[in-house]
Amino acid sequence: MPLSTFSFLLEGIRNLRTTGTFTRSSTALCEAAIDNIDFGTARVIVELGAGDGVITEHILKRLHPEGKVIAFEVSKDLCDDMRAIGDPRLVVAEDSAENIRHWLDQIGADKADHIVSAIPFAALPENLGKAIVLAAKDNLQPGGCYNQVHYSLKTRAYYEEAFGKVETRRVWANLPPAWVLYCLR
Ligand SMILES: C[S@@+](CC[C@H](N)C(=O)[O-])C[C@H]1O[C@@H](n2cnc3c(N)ncnc32)[C@H](O)[C@@H]1O
Repeated sequence: MPLSTFSFLLEGIRNLRTTGTFTRSSTALCEAAIDNIDFGTARVIVELGAGDGVITEHILKRLHPEGKVIAFEVSKDLCDDMRAIGDPRLVVAEDSAENIRHWLDQIGADKADHIVSAIPFAALPENLGKAIVLAAKDNLQPGGCYNQVHYSLKTRAYYEEAFGKVETRRVWANLPPAWVLYCLR
């Protein structure tokens, strides 16, 4: 088992309420989470609930050399895994995702071009979840996308309330099968 898979499993056992799962996203799910992003023009991507950086690495593969990814994660151990990626374009935000404004200011960015999230909102208090989604919307460029990875559509109303129309795609090639919800600012 690769070390990152193992540390993610450990984190799931220790903190299932915030992690939301024992497994990290599959390649198919990581790709579905970012495949509507125009990496030719995107410079600032914000990722919420980045875990050990499995989606982050897919973003970094496609990101412009002068781009930045701010990756939010509340677990110190998983943040350490992300720091080990060692890419100067990656800013590891060891912080809760509602503090997005503070971290955009740190890199001198007005707004995020796109936001990708895998935060397990169904497991968080509703007021915190809605505050995070609202902070994401307020700090996203008009025309930017907010993509949310989930294992159910239980919190779909959070995104409909913030963004209006929400499109969904089922990703079967993941354990368990997942959804990606696509919202446009
Ligand atoms: C389902 S895991 C996804 C991990 C990884 N992105 C993936 O796709 O495999 C969700 C992650 O969100 C993190 N998380 C939970 N609440 C958070 C919050 N308020 N702010 C930032 N990260 C949070 C958890 O610690 C966990 O690592």
